[in-house]
Amino acid sequence: MRFLSQVYALCFFFGVKVYCQYETYQRDEDYDQEPDDVYQPEFQFHQNVEYGVPFHQHTLACASECFCPPNFPSSMYCDNRKLKTIPNIPMHIQQLYLQFNEIEAVTENPFTNATHLKEINLSYNKIKSQKIDYGVFTKFSNLLQLHLEHNNLEEFPFPLPKSLERLLLGYNEISRLQENAMDGLINLTMLDLCYNHFQDSMFKEKILSKMEKLMQLNLCSNKLESMPPDLPSSLMYLSLENNSISSIPENYFKELPKLQALRMSHNKLQDIPYNIFNLPNLRELNVGHNKLKQAFYIPRSLEHLYLENNEIENINATMMCPSIDPLHYHHLTYIRMDQNKLKEPISSYIFFCFPHIHSIYYGEQKSTNGQTIQLKTQVFRRYQDDDDDDDDDHHHHHHHHDNVYEGQEQEGREENFDPHYYEV
Ligand SMILES: *[C@@H]1O[C@H](CO)[C@@H](O)[C@H](O)[C@H]1NC(C)=O
Ligand SMILES: *[C@@H]1O[C@H](CO)[C@@H](O)[C@H](O)[C@H]1NC(C)=O
Ligand SMILES: *[C@@H]1O[C@H](CO)[C@@H](O)[C@H](O)[C@H]1NC(C)=O
Ligand SMILES: *[C@@H]1O[C@H](CO)[C@@H](O)[C@H](O)[C@H]1NC(C)=O
Ligand SMILES: *[C@@H]1O[C@H](CO)[C@@H](O)[C@H](O)[C@H]1NC(C)=O
Repeated sequence: MRFLSQVYALCFFFGVKVYCQYETYQRDEDYDQEPDDVYQPEFQFHQNVEYGVPFHQHTLACASECFCPPNFPSSMYCDNRKLKTIPNIPMHIQQLYLQFNEIEAVTENPFTNATHLKEINLSYNKIKSQKIDYGVFTKFSNLLQLHLEHNNLEEFPFPLPKSLERLLLGYNEISRLQENAMDGLINLTMLDLCYNHFQDSMFKEKILSKMEKLMQLNLCSNKLESMPPDLPSSLMYLSLENNSISSIPENYFKELPKLQALRMSHNKLQDIPYNIFNLPNLRELNVGHNKLKQAFYIPRSLEHLYLENNEIENINATMMCPSIDPLHYHHLTYIRMDQNKLKEPISSYIFFCFPHIHSIYYGEQKSTNGQTIQLKTQVFRRYQDDDDDDDDDHHHHHHHHDNVYEGQEQEGREENFDPHYYEV
């Protein structure tokens, strides 16, 4: 943000007439950067928030503590300023950045004139639930984004404006949720609740099913013991890592045909129904760090499969792929299999069924006495240039037997799939 400010200052210096090309670009860059932390609550899809409304700059006020870029007059930057209270917000402000301060309370007063807010970033502060004035957010009938992650909230904020599309509440201590707290939030597309204290009992009422536009739900690092019930069928990304979920009900995903990414690593999955992941649009499945003993049916759409750190002793490729349809090949390109109990690589049948596979990472395996062992093949990969073979290599794979690479030395992962980064 400090760099951003400099960019703005520079643009200002060269005069208001100069079109500053950097602004939108730098903003996007800024979205991608995370502090010191790999946790990225947001999928990297482009947002439709409109920035920059042409107001005349001379007439516009800005809080003295903050910076309002002359060529972005509807935004007010008050981040990283050790503020203990929220400054007065002028009427025309639409984007308000207050992250990285020491704010404890959200009171009505500074917002008296602010009715046009579309985005409020209050992340990385010290806000407690009981210090939020009741209804302080509801009068912002155009509010689209509310960032409250990294605060000290104990309760899901209520009430919130019905216009909200993105609500980020990760890294709080939320363990209470009023029954109707989510009721009106019909336009929500992204809800981030990771790193809180959510339990199964908090989802008893059908509170999530009413969010008919919800695309992304993050519930990682909570205290769930079962799958959250009644999810809306609009869901595309579901993140449940690091809970204590031990099973998935038989028809659980029947209502979620649009699901593209499912992250369930670091849970207690043991026996799951064979066909459970038979989803037409699933592209990424992460069930690493569980207690799985067997493989399961792999849907045609799946591209990346993470199975590391489970209890799998042998992989039956026929089970993953019971039939081969030469006209509709499976899309799988990558499997991570390390830290299981494999004694040999997967049968080569797998390459007939998944012709797009270009790496299988075997790494180290666990033996029965708890020691680690290494298969002769630690990494399988095709001898192809990794650059252009992702999805357009239909016309030129080599015969797979010629391409098996038996890596003797530690190869590391062939593909750098950041487990926190979603390709869309
Ligand atoms: C809001 O603050 C977070 C830091 O928690 C930052 O990552 C994000 O980019 C900010 N959002 C905007 C739109 O500036
Ligand atoms: C609201 O606007 C009025 C009139 O411009 C001004 O006097 C007052 O100080 C403003 N209040 C806040 C909290 O910004
Ligand atoms: C929800 O979104 C739609 C489409 O963008 C919009 O027309 C409608 O006003 C929004 N609803 C609320 C309550 O803001
Ligand atoms: C897992 O969740 C717990 C809280 O339930 C948290 O303390 C811990 O840091 C999380 N671990 C990881 C790897 O995120
Ligand atoms: C693999 O699974 C198929 C189908 O379930 C079964 O017929 C076959 O016997 C299994 N093969 C091995 C080696 O377990």
